[in-house]
Amino acid sequence: MLNSPSGPAGMISRKIQLAFEHRTFFTRKVFDPENATLASCLSSDPETPGEKSSALVFVDEGLIRANVHLIERITHYFQQHAGSARLAAPPIVLPGGEACKNDWSQVESIWRSIHGAGLCRHSYVLAMGGGALLDLVGFAAATAHRGIRHIRLPTTTLSLADGGVGVKNGVNRFGKKNWIGTFTVPHAIIGDFDLLRYLPERDLRAGLIEVVKVALIRDASLFEALEARLDSLARLEEPALEFAIRRSAELHMNHIALAGDPFELGSARPLDFGHWAAHKLEQLSGFRLRHGEAVAIGMAIDLLYARNLGWLSATDCERILRLIEKLGFHLFAAELSLKAGKGLAILEGLEEFREHLGGQLTVTLVNGIGSAFEVHDMDTSALPGVFAELQERFMRKGVTR
Ligand SMILES: NC(=O)c1ccc[n+]([C@@H]2O[C@H](COP(=O)([O-])OP(=O)(O)OC[C@H]3O[C@@H](n4cnc5c(N)ncnc54)[C@H](O)[C@@H]3O)[C@@H](O)[C@H]2O)c1
Ligand SMILES: [Zn+2]
Repeated sequence: MLNSPSGPAGMISRKIQLAFEHRTFFTRKVFDPENATLASCLSSDPETPGEKSSALVFVDEGLIRANVHLIERITHYFQQHAGSARLAAPPIVLPGGEACKNDWSQVESIWRSIHGAGLCRHSYVLAMGGGALLDLVGFAAATAHRGIRHIRLPTTTLSLADGGVGVKNGVNRFGKKNWIGTFTVPHAIIGDFDLLRYLPERDLRAGLIEVVKVALIRDASLFEALEARLDSLARLEEPALEFAIRRSAELHMNHIALAGDPFELGSARPLDFGHWAAHKLEQLSGFRLRHGEAVAIGMAIDLLYARNLGWLSATDCERILRLIEKLGFHLFAAELSLKAGKGLAILEGLEEFREHLGGQLTVTLVNGIGSAFEVHDMDTSALPGVFAELQERFMRKGVTR
């Protein structure tokens, strides 16, 4: 029996347990020399006490364009905190937005910079920017030397409220979103609300949809709080945005840390509510649609689908759709009508979603505000009716995009 792989004599089995601290610090003016948030993240290393850390900073070009003195501020900050960390090379500006995840040469270039700066695994790679740049740099950092410590500074509403405070990274490949990537817990995440001031209105708004999403699947009281602040949120007023982002980030992190599947080994993926259609729509639109804009449409599809199948009341469904519209989102895009062969191209999103998550198709739907459930089958014959209703609703409103 010695050679039997399944017999007791032929198997060695050990449990490997790892504990991660998943931390997000919210602050303002992160590169003000008086602000110790980043410096303390860089110097709090029990493995190498007294050792000065090296850091390499990658910054989103969109942010730099709007905030031209940022590079100087970063450099000055490190000079002021020279006791805890040093810049291994001047900050590196990378193009942001979805295009950076579609360009494999960006991964190579980040690896080359890490290599050129001689970073070791105890050094830090800082990524500062929107969700796309964080995904790109996070992936390069997670794979260089099998994982260099990584600090994220999300600078968009969406990345602060959702993916930027999570544990996933990735780039697009074969025309598919996030086809390559890893699950890696960042060393720390630092959110600076002041940086949102530089964000164009379109991106400031786009991230709010992830707040609505997490409220719908997890927290009815957050949904009510969003309704109560609807006018301020629609006007993108800072206090309302900050409230929404903080609460969303907290729920997102709660899900990762407490729901029992941080690295998504099972098939359930509640945080991907509305995303099967959203990812496909982003791709079909050639990334004309922002992720958040596509998620708004994806959620509307799954809400109407659940209503039509009798799982969600018409009243709740309408209440949710109105809130999303009042926040300024459109619930239809022309790409929903695109054909692929004999069928609709958008429907390919279901199989791509299944393939990406693994195993059985699992789509999260909501059956009430704050209440999610899962289905393992979507009746694709019921979806064209949903698209038609969304188109009609969109036409009635007389909006064009
Ligand atoms: N890893 C995850 O778990 C996860 C989760 C959700 C979304 N995502 C990914 O996040 C991406 C979307 O992120 P996003 O919505 O943040 O958009 P984005 O990263 O595409 O950024 C939008 C635009 O804003 C610019 N920008 C960023 N910060 C700025 C600032 N403060 N001031 C001015 N301009 C700024 C960028 O250059 C870009 O042009 C998608 O690729 C999506 O797949 C990842
Ligand atoms: Zn999303």
